[in-house]
Amino acid sequence: MSLSIIVLAAGKGSRMLSTKPKVFHEIGNYPMIYHVLDVAKSFKQSKINLVISKEILGFKESIIKKYKNILFSIQNEQRGTADAVKTALLNKESRASNMTMILYGDTPLISKKMLENAINEFKKRKLDLCVISMKPENNQNNYGKLKFIDDKLVEIVEQIEIKEKDECSNICNSGMMILKTNYLKKLLKLVSSRNKKKEFYLTDLVKIFNEKNLIVDHFICSYADSLGVNSMEELSMVNEQFQNKRRKQFLADGVNIESPESVFFSYDTKIGKGVTIQPNVYFGPSVTIRDSVIIRSFSYLDHVKINNNVTVGPFARIRDEVEVEENSKIGNFVEIKKTKVKKGVKISHLSYIGDSEINKNTNIGAGAITCNYDGIKKHRTIIGENCFIGSNTSLVAPLNIKKGSIIGAGTVVNTDIPNETVVYRKSELIKKNKKK
Ligand code: UD1
Ligand code: CA
Repeated sequence: MSLSIIVLAAGKGSRMLSTKPKVFHEIGNYPMIYHVLDVAKSFKQSKINLVISKEILGFKESIIKKYKNILFSIQNEQRGTADAVKTALLNKESRASNMTMILYGDTPLISKKMLENAINEFKKRKLDLCVISMKPENNQNNYGKLKFIDDKLVEIVEQIEIKEKDECSNICNSGMMILKTNYLKKLLKLVSSRNKKKEFYLTDLVKIFNEKNLIVDHFICSYADSLGVNSMEELSMVNEQFQNKRRKQFLADGVNIESPESVFFSYDTKIGKGVTIQPNVYFGPSVTIRDSVIIRSFSYLDHVKINNNVTVGPFARIRDEVEVEENSKIGNFVEIKKTKVKKGVKISHLSYIGDSEINKNTNIGAGAITCNYDGIKKHRTIIGENCFIGSNTSLVAPLNIKKGSIIGAGTVVNTDIPNETVVYRKSELIKKNKKK
């Protein structure tokens, strides 16, 4: 059975009270919509159609760059989830499949495995409509509720539409659905907007399919996988859930995380073997940690590769295209930006190293600073191997200090230094008796 996937992302997201479209808020430093599209894309043979609003059009280019063959449908007015699906079905390619899976851009923790299980169930039981459902831990929630009569799913009632006579279960609608495309096309027209929100609810299809004697049921998935985001509070809850998953996975992979709840990972953090992470560490996007590394407390890393046997921190900030090679040491209160740190380098205390290359076995003393910015442009500093840069030096870029040189403490270096040179500024230390 051919599958097409429709991802709904046109909603106003008004409950977020944000300046940014809802689906571009991030979970683990990665937009929610990308989490969903990555899972959709893993169904290789399927056509993906993303329904967006005009407000998100500005993001279209970046989405196309990342997901090449994706289709777009523009929902001009946000008239509800059924209307969004109708918009998607205007595209012939979305109508051509036997089976349609509907995903929501604000439900980012879904997994391919769960969706595959739901699809298998849909096929095995020859269903016409399968709702992916879940059981929240807490009954006070705004999810649509599944209503059963004699164990048969008869309809989904949106939380604000529940009337006293409705006997709904505590099983909720995750929003995701799998349907036979031909029935979806035919029956979507029957959804009306006669309800409190004056919106076309996709969930009405459950009742409509039942009225046509089609086979309707639900597939229950884990609550944690199907959390939806409508507010900043829910965004933080989903982020928390995401972090817990990542922490558990890294612990299971043998990473020694001393205080897991205080360590934050990104969607793409990679960590090798024999790594220790002390409490309160933040991994921003694009961080790779190789083997036998120690990250000490209060360090913040993004866009960084740390190779084997390196120690980082405490209180280190390493960012924006840095690679630290084997057996180096980055100590406390050190900031490194856009720099290649070669093997066996020590930058142990209180330094700013930006736009630089520090070669093998060089020692950077406490308080050494690269002055990389002249107010207009950034300039590079290259320090050769086996150099010794004394404490409290100012390295004024552009600067090239060749190998084996020694820079005395407190020196302002503003010209290139040849190999094996000792550099210091001569200024006498005056000592006088106070009384004279
Ligand atoms: C929806 C479901 C609810 C379910 C919950 C799960 C309906 C009517 N209700 O409620 O049963 O428990 O999700 O999280 O479907 N969207 C559009 N165009 C629109 C409206 C929405 O593309 O006109 C998109 C949104 O961007 C979002 C998704 O559809 O990705 C769901 O919309 P939202 O308004 O968040 O629905 P909920 O109230 O959460
Ligand atoms: Ca929602």
